[in-house]
Amino acid sequence: MSTTCDTLVLGAGAAGLMCAAHAGPGTLIVDHAASPGEKIRISGGGRCNFTNLHTGPENFLSANPHFCKSALSRYTQWDFIDLMAQHGIAWHEKTLGQLFCDGKATQVVAMLVTELRRAGADLWLSTTLRDIRHDGSRFCAILEREGKTRQITARNLVLATGGKSIPKMGATGLAYDIARQFGHNVTETRPALVPLTFSEGPFAPLSGTALPVRATCNGTAFDEAALFTHRGLSGPAILQISSVWREGLPVTLDLDPGARLLDALRAQRRTEGRRNLTTELGHHLPARLVTYLTPRLDLTGNLADQSDARLVQITDALRAWHLRPTGTEGYRTAEVTLGGIATDGLSSKTLESKHLPGLYAIGEAVDVTGWLGGYNFQWAWSSGWAAGQAI
Ligand code: FDA
Repeated sequence: MSTTCDTLVLGAGAAGLMCAAHAGPGTLIVDHAASPGEKIRISGGGRCNFTNLHTGPENFLSANPHFCKSALSRYTQWDFIDLMAQHGIAWHEKTLGQLFCDGKATQVVAMLVTELRRAGADLWLSTTLRDIRHDGSRFCAILEREGKTRQITARNLVLATGGKSIPKMGATGLAYDIARQFGHNVTETRPALVPLTFSEGPFAPLSGTALPVRATCNGTAFDEAALFTHRGLSGPAILQISSVWREGLPVTLDLDPGARLLDALRAQRRTEGRRNLTTELGHHLPARLVTYLTPRLDLTGNLADQSDARLVQITDALRAWHLRPTGTEGYRTAEVTLGGIATDGLSSKTLESKHLPGLYAIGEAVDVTGWLGGYNFQWAWSSGWAAGQAI
């Protein structure tokens, strides 16, 4: 069976659905999964952190930090918020500009599917790509659906199959393979927004302990919560810093990001000099962490026993805890893939290939990776919209 369409979109995730909703009639969007937008469904604990009020190019990592500017400025967080309003989907700001649905993330998936149907696009699920070629003027895809082989001819092909994170959810490197097949470079890919691991598992006794920190690596810092796990460190501050961490680099934790501890200890020493140092520290840090640090920092005696120099020494140590991760939890749990289809082969305005007219790449498959906090979905919406408009 053979079908001709204007545009074939591979991948019915965030970017592909958005693109199909704007590419219009004659668009066929296909996915090997049984449902569209599975990552949207599970994101944000089922409430989808769908954008961030403060989205700007500075919240993205890429070999070319300017690449994301055009799409982000032409389809902004406000445009997506408008779309949510048109569909009556209520939302709230949780923290740091992060917007979540009041209800379920599936509302966002339903909204995008409604939009693409309204635009006259067709959605095929449980569909496998067997082969893709370009005959000089058109793309020819061999698809398998419901046990039948179908040949699709399309003027445009949009790569929207995302990155490699969470293979159990159907993530594959398909977009990278096809991009390479058509002459594009793919930058090194690695798991990002991912917990960091330590070979000696020094934190097992702290597992479950969370506190606000400033995590710094390679000149970049994030002020958010860190969470100790059995194998290492997680929590927003660590997930953020994992995107800039590289093998061999230390990560420094400031356990007193507000820089208030030294003054507090001095004040308590004046009024409660007989209080145990560790008891006082337990008012500022989680008790289990104080117990863990006690032998390591030799935290003994009363507050009155501590000289000013000693208090400075202790607080300095707490403000610069150098840790050496040995790895990450990998693609199994990474929220995103860093790197991807090199931006130098794509138009930043339309996301179209500079080598092969009619070929587009959008979303996470491209070497544009957002911080934690709704930025990755905004990139999916903006890049999907930009390609859809251009088509
Ligand atoms: P996406 O991965 O969404 O879609 C790709 C589609 O292609 C999938 O439907 C997949 O089935 C399909 N596909 C893959 N290989 C295929 C093949 N070989 N054949 C056919 N189809 C194929 N971001 C954010 O901004 N806010 C948040 O709250 C979260 N939360 C979050 C939680 C978790 C657990 C994860 C894993 C990720 C997030 N993210 C996030 C990141 C966000 O989900 C991600 O950046 C976007 O979904 C990327 O959108 P894409 O459309 O590019 O890929």
